[in-house]
Amino acid sequence: MKRDEGLLRAHYGEPPADIALEDIDLGRVPSHVSIIMDGNGRWAQARGLDRSRGHVAGVDALRETVTTSVRLGLDALSVYAFSTENWRRPQREVDLLMHLFATTLVKELPLFHQENVRLRFLGDLSALPRRTHDVFRQGLDETAGHTGMTFALAVNYGSRAELTRACRDVAEAVVRGELAATDITEGLVASHLYTAGMPDPELLIRTSGELRLSNYLLWQLAYAELYVTDLMWPDFDRWELLRAVRAFQERDRRFGGVVGS
Ligand code: FPP
Repeated sequence: MKRDEGLLRAHYGEPPADIALEDIDLGRVPSHVSIIMDGNGRWAQARGLDRSRGHVAGVDALRETVTTSVRLGLDALSVYAFSTENWRRPQREVDLLMHLFATTLVKELPLFHQENVRLRFLGDLSALPRRTHDVFRQGLDETAGHTGMTFALAVNYGSRAELTRACRDVAEAVVRGELAATDITEGLVASHLYTAGMPDPELLIRTSGELRLSNYLLWQLAYAELYVTDLMWPDFDRWELLRAVRAFQERDRRFGGVVGS
């Protein structure tokens, strides 16, 4: 995707001392960056606030991450917003998150139009409250013709559930006689995942210092570089995204081969 260095500079402003924009090779950014946004609750609690305030502050961090990703020229950005396990949170918090997803999406649709961003969702949306579901549908429809970055929101997503669903779909196709077992390739499995047609993430970022994958994109992250920051998600900003991209560019990616091969 085309990268615009001028726009990038205009967008970034003055970087902190540890970053020089020259450090980032715009010709070699990861095509897909995925983020486990973690630490909203702790961010709020550390300030004596209700956890919900952390989620609200997290929306600002997400907006900045989306626009910076567009400026960087990523093909795709995906974020883990709500897992299949998150239903176990107090009902009040679940309700707030579902409300926040819907209101944020409506509010940010003009930004997606302006930035030519195409929305997509990863996860089983059928279990979501009606309004959230309807707004997501509207977001999908309204951005379907956009040709810029794909922004994928993982909601009611769990990797094991996704793989189980893919197995079931493929098995049913075999039972119907549309496929032979020998037709089952890695590509075929990938085409039955929520991420079908997207490049695999090349860089996974997790905030709040936790060293876990939390049932997130287990198939797709097979070769991803990992970047963990101690920042809580609401404190994540354009500079931390650049630090992560710089770290990615300093890695020696071998895909199971040897150095220099
Ligand atoms: C983790 O913090 C974050 C989430 C549960 C995801 C929700 C993300 C947002 C509200 C950001 C905006 C997203 C959208 C799509 C509008 P946590 O609650 O797990 O924090 P903790 O580990 O400190 O408890």
